[in-house]
Amino acid sequence: MEHHRLFALSILALTLLATASAQLRTDYYKDICPNVEQYVRTAVTQKFLQTFVTAPATLRLFFHDCFVKGCDASVLLYSPSHNAEMDHPDDISLAGDGFDTVAKAKAAVDQDPMCTNKVSCADILALATRDVIALTGGPSYKVEVGRLDGRISTKASVQHNLPKPYFNLDQLNALFSWHGLTQTDMIALSGGHTIGFAHCSKFMNRLYKFSRSSNLDPTLNWNYARQLQAICPMNVDSRIAVQMDQATPQIFDNAYYKNLQKGMGLFTSDQSLYTDPRSRDTVNLFASNTTAFYEAFVTAITKLGRVGVKTTRQGEIRRDCSKVN
Ligand code: HEM
Ligand SMILES: *[C@@H]1O[C@H](CO)[C@@H](O)[C@H](O)[C@H]1NC(C)=O
Repeated sequence: MEHHRLFALSILALTLLATASAQLRTDYYKDICPNVEQYVRTAVTQKFLQTFVTAPATLRLFFHDCFVKGCDASVLLYSPSHNAEMDHPDDISLAGDGFDTVAKAKAAVDQDPMCTNKVSCADILALATRDVIALTGGPSYKVEVGRLDGRISTKASVQHNLPKPYFNLDQLNALFSWHGLTQTDMIALSGGHTIGFAHCSKFMNRLYKFSRSSNLDPTLNWNYARQLQAICPMNVDSRIAVQMDQATPQIFDNAYYKNLQKGMGLFTSDQSLYTDPRSRDTVNLFASNTTAFYEAFVTAITKLGRVGVKTTRQGEIRRDCSKVN
């Protein structure tokens, strides 16, 4: 009797310990797979040299992974019945090159017998994300690792966890704070839109029939609006995409914030960061000081990488990033 009670108590203690040990560390693989960062960087660089889309695709993939069920590579899981995260409309537009980048980096890591099936897909995605940011001229930073891969991925879980391009500041803040991120983190991470593409459907609301009195969103720069209308006519081919930062589309710099100052933010969510006086000062700071942007971005993406990290009971190290073991 007494014995059973003690046993129950020690299980409780172990559970608490397991939760606490979900702490990430930068040297987690030091003895497990000491060269993991080099393997990932080489594979990512090779892929990046083949196609630029590697960079925005990987960065966006990491964001979507972390916001839905935590940074656990659940976004990579394939479902034969098309019921996984990747099947949700917000994830269907994730570029295939991001998935391919993780698969290639995973294969490179697994080639070392010491590392085979020892590094999680979630960590590989986090490392690859750091590498594409550096490859496009952004800040370098140490990546915290030690995540496990999740076993669950559902289409339904995406709906209320990812921001919509038509969100205003309050909606953005509500969603980001739900994930433990501040307004400053949110503004810094939105700077990810300094690289990559968006399909016309994501901002058509700003170009046509915006309101009863105006076709155009009044916060949109008039010349920029005309250019966008030319690329995205009313019945545009759904595959047409535009560069989100027209100034320096392939460079991870602070041009995104300078664009906002000119009314050249592509989405309602982007432009609202400047239009709303509560976030404008931060936009102005990042627009005028690259170092301040980079520091805030590194802080924010490190916090993003901690969202919903799995403990041993909830996760595993996947052999194939697209399938549970
Ligand atoms: C703040 C709220 C955000 C909203 C509303 C949003 C929305 C979107 C949308 C609608 C697209 C275009 C998808 C398409 O048409 O294919 C996009 C692209 C992209 N987003 Fe975001 N996003 C947000 C935050 C972020 C964050 C935090 C990151 C990463 C730090 C990020 C990185 C990207 C990248 C890199 C692309 C380009 C993808 C590519 O070229 O393949 N976004 N985003
Ligand atoms: C830019 O930001 C950095 C980091 O916050 C700060 O140390 C530096 O003084 C700022 N530079 C200027 C010119 O304000």
